[in-house]
Amino acid sequence: MKFIVAIDGPAAAGKGTIAKAVAKYFKFPHLDTGLLYRGVGKKALAYSRTSYYPEIAKQLALDLKPVDLEANDLRTPEVAKAASKIAVIPEVREVLLDFQRNFANQEGGAVLDGRDIGTVICPYAHVKLFITASAEIRAIRRYEELKNNGLEISFENVMRDVVSRDKRDQERNASPLIIADDAYEIDTSSLSANDAVGVAIDHINEKFKNL
Ligand code: DC
Repeated sequence: MKFIVAIDGPAAAGKGTIAKAVAKYFKFPHLDTGLLYRGVGKKALAYSRTSYYPEIAKQLALDLKPVDLEANDLRTPEVAKAASKIAVIPEVREVLLDFQRNFANQEGGAVLDGRDIGTVICPYAHVKLFITASAEIRAIRRYEELKNNGLEISFENVMRDVVSRDKRDQERNASPLIIADDAYEIDTSSLSANDAVGVAIDHINEKFKNL
């Protein structure tokens, strides 16, 4: 059986939390596709100013290995910014496409979260969720998370990063962050993590019943 759950949305809306919980509940493997872009973004930071030239960025993506996704410094603001700059390059997206599609199409079902899963990677997904929250709420969550991880950073900087990353993700030409016509939107601004997960699971169960 194939059953694809596509989860998209802007940074810090709660996609990751929902994707992990849904994967655990339905016993599906989960791919956080942001990690692929973060992996390439980290290489770009270590490389040189020419990293964002399409041919060079493409090679960095081709060189990405599973072990690169296990690095424990992929969640820093610097890597997030580099990832969103790398993600505008169509050649990079092209390289990462097959891996994501193969993951989605495995037997037994799969959960993928990112920006373009329901629109470009798996337009035929069985369930599409679009997770949102206001920019301010998302910045507060990201700020708390970074602070808990011991990072010295001001709220103003985090807010600025969230807004500029949203802009870059939404306005790029290659697979921009947009809501698919058939996606189910969950605004987590005033929901607890548990409640948001509950709403997602109920919706997926409904789709399961109507297969
Ligand atoms: O979800 P995240 O914050 O880990 O993603 C990091 C960046 O990667 C984000 O700014 C945009 C990009 N990204 C993307 O373009 N497409 C995806 N499917 C996932 C992430």
